[in-house]
Amino acid sequence: MPEKIRAPKGLEGVIATKTSVSKIDGEKGKLLYRGYDVEELSKELTFEQVAFLLWFGRMPGFEELQQFNRDLSSKREISQESLDFIRKAPHTVNPLVLLRSTTSLIGMHADADNEPALDAAKSLVPKFPTILAHFDRIRRNRGLVRPSAGTSSAENLLYMISGQKPPKEHSDALNSYFILLADHGLNASTFSAIVTISTLTDYYSAITAAIGTLKGPLHGGAPSQVWEMLTEIGDSGNAESWLEKRIESGNRIMGFGHRVYRAEDPRSRALKGIAKKIASRKTFELAVSVEETARELLRRKYPERVIETNVEFYSSLVLNAVGIPVDMFTATFACSRLVGWTAHILEQLSDNRLFRPESEYVGPEGLSLTQNY
Ligand code: CMC
Repeated sequence: MPEKIRAPKGLEGVIATKTSVSKIDGEKGKLLYRGYDVEELSKELTFEQVAFLLWFGRMPGFEELQQFNRDLSSKREISQESLDFIRKAPHTVNPLVLLRSTTSLIGMHADADNEPALDAAKSLVPKFPTILAHFDRIRRNRGLVRPSAGTSSAENLLYMISGQKPPKEHSDALNSYFILLADHGLNASTFSAIVTISTLTDYYSAITAAIGTLKGPLHGGAPSQVWEMLTEIGDSGNAESWLEKRIESGNRIMGFGHRVYRAEDPRSRALKGIAKKIASRKTFELAVSVEETARELLRRKYPERVIETNVEFYSSLVLNAVGIPVDMFTATFACSRLVGWTAHILEQLSDNRLFRPESEYVGPEGLSLTQNY
């Protein structure tokens, strides 16, 4: 029996598995997908090309990509059961919760235990934007817009929400956002997905677990709160006192800090560039001023720790500018990260070993009902 290793709380600094899907260099602030720099991919490729790259480990050929695009876009429609379920959902429900529950429902109607994970993914990935757009239109009492074939995932989502062909700069911005957020090493939701699939359960169960994990504000739940913070601050003149009060009362500033990066998050840099182009000047200038002030205050309070903007800060500006409702920010993140979860699920299944760590028991022992109760 090998000697047991006592891991630090939160598994910080622990290497728990091997992957060839993505690499984070936290010291240099770099992120690679299958060896390619994510900033370059986000400028040059479509989200579908990146999905192919992440799932199959190589770039698609021309014909392969056409086929892959056709496969995905032909699965955008959702079933009548899913639509009925969405119609009955409370209009105030967190859209990510709706996505989680609809995923579970789709899994219930699929032959989930026998369906290969890749087939399930090809069917589920194109449905996420449809679920969100239908939900959003239902709660706004608008007629449903059917998915449009032959458009990119980004263009289709914006079209289905607004009912109009989006400006190219908006679909390009959302396409880049989808690429930048598609994968990120062993983040908490990906870890959840691979722990779940390592029991050899079905794909939908693993994705349901991952969505639940993404929801928390320490992971994917921050961007709406970033937007609320910017709205509350309202003017750069208020930034310092607002942030100071928040930090001094022990609250965290949403959109700042990261477990792995000790340099600027490259996704934040890329999203800032996109936000500069498409957000209103007033909003962008307010965000930059909040960023600079918060960074300075956090540097003063935590001189030993690098706390920079993370991916969520400028995501909120990009998503708002392209017309995604604020409460759908994290669910839109899930449309992208579903691709990364899938890549890791496929990788885990190709060389599976059950995740089963141990815990150190620190409670009492030797109690007896006759003496202690
Ligand atoms: N605002 C204020 N203080 C902070 C922040 C922040 N955003 N981030 C870290 N700190 C403080 C933290 O309170 C701790 O201080 P103390 O030792 O006095 O308790 C110190 O810095 C060290 O932080 P940590 O808890 O060791 O950092 P972590 O690695 O556990 O946390 C984090 C990473 C992202 C959870 C955290 O930075 C945070 O809560 N940020 C705000 C929420 C947020 O932006 N979430 C999105 C995460 S990035 C996207 C993703 O991964 O999906």
